[in-house]
Amino acid sequence: MKLKQLEGLLGDLQQFTAPKVELEQYATGPHIASRMLYTAENSFDDITGKVVADFGCGCGTLSVASSLLDAEHVVGIDIDPQSLELAQENAADLELDIDLIQCDIKNLNLRGLLVDTVVMNPPFGTSRKGADMEFISMGMKVATRAVYSLHKTSTREHIKKVALRNCNAISAEVLCELRYNLPRTYKFHKQNEVDIAVDFWRFVPRARDEDKPMDGTCLPTCIQQAVQVLTLKRVVQSSVTGWNKQPLMQELTKALKSVSSDLLDRFIDSVYKFSEQPYLNEGNFGPVNEIGDEVFIDDLNGEVPKDFPEGVYIRNGPNPLNASQTAAESIFGPTSYMYYEGHGMLHAIYLSKSNLGEWRISYKNKYVDTDTFELERKKNKIAFLPSAEGEPCATLVAFLLNTVRFGKPVKDSANTSIFQHAGRAFAATENHLPYEIDINNLRTLGPYNINGAWDQPFTSHPKKICGSGELVTMGTNIEKPHYVLGVISSDGERLLHKVDLKFEEGKLIHDIGVTAQFIQNDMGGISRIGVMPRFGDADSIIWFDVENHCSYHLFNCFEDGNEVVIRGCRTLDSVLSSASHDDDKSKCSGRAFLQPDKNSEGFDPSVDGTLFSRPYEWRLNLKSGTTKEGYLTDEKVAMDFPVINEDFVGVKNNYGYAQVVDSVATSEIGLFKYNRIAKVHFDRQDKENKQLKSVEYHVLKEKTFCSGVQFVAKENGIDEDDGWIITYVHDELTNVSQVYIIDAKRFAEEPVLKITLPQRVPYGFHGNFFYK
Ligand SMILES: C[S@@+](CC[C@H](N)C(=O)[O-])C[C@H]1O[C@@H](n2cnc3c(N)ncnc32)[C@H](O)[C@@H]1O
Repeated sequence: MKLKQLEGLLGDLQQFTAPKVELEQYATGPHIASRMLYTAENSFDDITGKVVADFGCGCGTLSVASSLLDAEHVVGIDIDPQSLELAQENAADLELDIDLIQCDIKNLNLRGLLVDTVVMNPPFGTSRKGADMEFISMGMKVATRAVYSLHKTSTREHIKKVALRNCNAISAEVLCELRYNLPRTYKFHKQNEVDIAVDFWRFVPRARDEDKPMDGTCLPTCIQQAVQVLTLKRVVQSSVTGWNKQPLMQELTKALKSVSSDLLDRFIDSVYKFSEQPYLNEGNFGPVNEIGDEVFIDDLNGEVPKDFPEGVYIRNGPNPLNASQTAAESIFGPTSYMYYEGHGMLHAIYLSKSNLGEWRISYKNKYVDTDTFELERKKNKIAFLPSAEGEPCATLVAFLLNTVRFGKPVKDSANTSIFQHAGRAFAATENHLPYEIDINNLRTLGPYNINGAWDQPFTSHPKKICGSGELVTMGTNIEKPHYVLGVISSDGERLLHKVDLKFEEGKLIHDIGVTAQFIQNDMGGISRIGVMPRFGDADSIIWFDVENHCSYHLFNCFEDGNEVVIRGCRTLDSVLSSASHDDDKSKCSGRAFLQPDKNSEGFDPSVDGTLFSRPYEWRLNLKSGTTKEGYLTDEKVAMDFPVINEDFVGVKNNYGYAQVVDSVATSEIGLFKYNRIAKVHFDRQDKENKQLKSVEYHVLKEKTFCSGVQFVAKENGIDEDDGWIITYVHDELTNVSQVYIIDAKRFAEEPVLKITLPQRVPYGFHGNFFYK
């Protein structure tokens, strides 16, 4: 709005009809009022989109001006009810939404009302000594950005001294000196006009961190409404089960959409209290700092095998920024982070040879610099509200607030895997696009959307097709389309095939397998596995019903005559779906990870052993439509994070490697710890039980656990197991992290090399080896 237009509109406002001398009621003329507000906005950005309070608003001139300049919310406060009635009429005439409160400024109890800017033309303290300072003092308590005020020039020095000394101001500046033409207002005024010198002040309050309100009573109206809706729903929810989320989402979304991001930020600050989710900071699950430049390592126990390939071993894993703010408490209930959503950090071991053929080994770590990571780093606090665990209503609100504020309900954690395609590396987690990484320095290059052709989530485990070099991916989504399949060209530049498989529900599907055909694995509810041609569509899927289960990771898939064979690690429940309620969770983690004993007293099949993960094989006969399935290894041993020699993806292979769960240690904390590595011989029967496969174990020292196990193939190797297992390990007794290289053919023997790292490497998820 132009200054002249503003001045014109203010000139039409009704003013005091019977001004009260004791309250020093005289109006701020349109010329001065419009310039005050114009300066506050144009020079300091303090009005538009801000919450503004007008102290001693009288007939509302400064409130109206703030509202006309698009303040987010305006509150006018005055002791005098008749003035407020006029202010109400003035606002209504211009169809402005202004809240008016009748109150003596010195009794104003706005504890927790977060106002950006206070504007005022207070009493000068002529009728009641000290009235002017009461206004300044209260303004400085309430405003977070600035207080704009008019005071007699004769009081300048006094005002400055008191504002800086007693009113918590970090600056008190006279913006200009005005001539205040006071028309003859009171009988005792002898002249028709009194010309007073007046200073226009700007005071800036010192930043403070006072008690923030934990109720919605002092919040702007639209948010108050949202809070009321939610509080009501919470009450209803506690007495009624099966409540409907949809209307709540709609109501809240509507209320929140009308609120600026600045205001929402402050709403979050005032309503949410953050604390630490303790287990995320415990032991080797706790995050570490970035180490900076690559660090060369000479602390080696053993030697790099001479035919070991040069390259980089990288492992991804969660490493929350601001780990001390990973739990939230609010009027909506508690929510918290879970381990799986920490920001992705990459840990790399570089293995290269000098010109003289000597090995040089170095280590570096770095966060994956996703768009949302950058946002949280800049804010220096949690931006995305923890939403993975907590009360249903609270997680829903957190989801919604995240979506309204950042356009997505959860951040791009990019913490699960690091896969390669077409000579490029990508960090991924399935709810967002993968981020390309420069493996030479771990810098993040940006999201990968196949030159704009892919706008879906992207699995952490896309699969390269042997021979063609194409990459098969998928994106699963709670919203439609629930499952989109894609085939990416071998040079990574083109999307060759994209098809909606028309799933009726959104489900998390973590892994896929490829053979000459394409297989996808559907979990949750009633389990079934679909097989389809790689370039097929929803109609070309052949579905096989299998026993109910959950399987996160596959060893491999291949064709064997008429059968498609799938080998994976299988549990009865999902670590994610069981992670909802604290009580349930401790019950689950205590028993779900342990080997189930059906004969024990109190055995509960819905809890006991449901997360005890074992290698499993499904054989799907494409000709007869029948399924054969069963466990591959001993019932006493749980394992997951399977890997194979990648040259065998999609074809029949003999060896699978997996991390063996320390079930007791895992059950104690509810987070996986792996204290052995298994080599499963798919081609060899177990000596004692001919139904099962033979397994060799590489046993780690006491209290030493591994993560990121990967197979590294020997250059010019002949056998499938010509190569090494490489893994990060952490010794909890010494708190030292190492990388082990284990000869895959002499699997149970001591590692051929142990590399001691300069810094602890927290437990994490998947690793990969990038050959030079
Ligand atoms: C100088 S007038 C300004 C009016 C209005 N802000 C304007 O610019 O036209 C001062 C206002 O402060 C109000 N007032 C005086 N003492 C007050 C107090 N203790 N608490 C709240 N308002 C008070 C008066 O009623 C009056 O409306």
